[in-house]
Amino acid sequence: MNVNRRVLTLDEFTIQQLRDFPNATGELSNLLRDIGLAAKRVNVEVNKAGLVDILGDAGNMNVQGEDVKKLDVFANNQFMGVLRHGISCAGIGSEELDDIAVFDDEISNQSKYVCLFDPLDGSGNIDVNVSIGTIFGVYRRVSEKGRPCTKADFLQAGIKQVAAGYIIYGSSTMMVYATRRGVNGFTLDPSIGEFTLSHPNIKCPLSGNIYSVNHGNFFQFGDGVKKYIDQCQKKNKSNGGPYSQRYIGSMVSDVHRNLIKGGIFMYPATTDKQNGKLRLQYECNPFAFLIEVAGGKATDGKLRILDIVPETLHQRSAFFGGSQHMMEELEDCMKNSN
Ligand code: AHG
Repeated sequence: MNVNRRVLTLDEFTIQQLRDFPNATGELSNLLRDIGLAAKRVNVEVNKAGLVDILGDAGNMNVQGEDVKKLDVFANNQFMGVLRHGISCAGIGSEELDDIAVFDDEISNQSKYVCLFDPLDGSGNIDVNVSIGTIFGVYRRVSEKGRPCTKADFLQAGIKQVAAGYIIYGSSTMMVYATRRGVNGFTLDPSIGEFTLSHPNIKCPLSGNIYSVNHGNFFQFGDGVKKYIDQCQKKNKSNGGPYSQRYIGSMVSDVHRNLIKGGIFMYPATTDKQNGKLRLQYECNPFAFLIEVAGGKATDGKLRILDIVPETLHQRSAFFGGSQHMMEELEDCMKNSN
């Protein structure tokens, strides 16, 4: 078998990045490696979800009052486990946990980072073989090192993220992450069991051809959003024709596609869900960070997502994110509208 040594693995890439920062401790590289390891374990289970009795509800609800699928529980335990046993993470917040999990031991208390994640986003799609994903955001802790981390570490504005990313379990499995230096995508090579750099320096096209929104909620949206959707369906500035509507209902898959091809993803507030559905800390902030580093924009309709200071761990937010020009068209429509 020919092994292509020109292709960097995730570990090789993060170590190479470290060379540019002689004072770096390597903790972030360790943390990303830990996340990659948990992702590989989750990937194995996701791939055999149709074969074994791991599908379906775990029989309880998460803190958001939604059914928890067994794979959500498995994924949560994997990510929590590797981060707890690693040396770079002082604690985690997870969409599946009521409260933060503080890793109160000698090594973890010395760690620089905390991590917030949605272990298995789009899990409503597990039973029908649609791509699902894991989303994560990494923050430098604000609490004193040497002590257990605190809630304040997890309630920082998204702009404070030092890294954010996602894993998409799809036709191939990919890990995409951003630091301030850029967005890079790694595809899992099953022959060697490693994530390998397949999408270096991802840039979100300035414009695209796709808008993604749950149209079923149309009559519950505000006038500005309705006006924009109406415009998407007509001749528009960017491409002279209607945009294509694509909505999987799995944010990782929808945003991944739009990031690569150009497009806009929207989960607006509705009359039923006046603060939107998506969670600021687990879904909106990591994607806002990725999209901005890739050259796009992300807002809640009024404010830049990354500037919002969360008040609670499981706070929800409306979300609009994607190609810069499409976001500007949306902003025009939302100006002076409710
Ligand atoms: P869940 O993890 O509960 O399946 O939620 C998925 C999220 C997000 O990934 C997706 O874009 C959105 O919820 C879909 O919600 P709607 O079904 O309301 O459109």
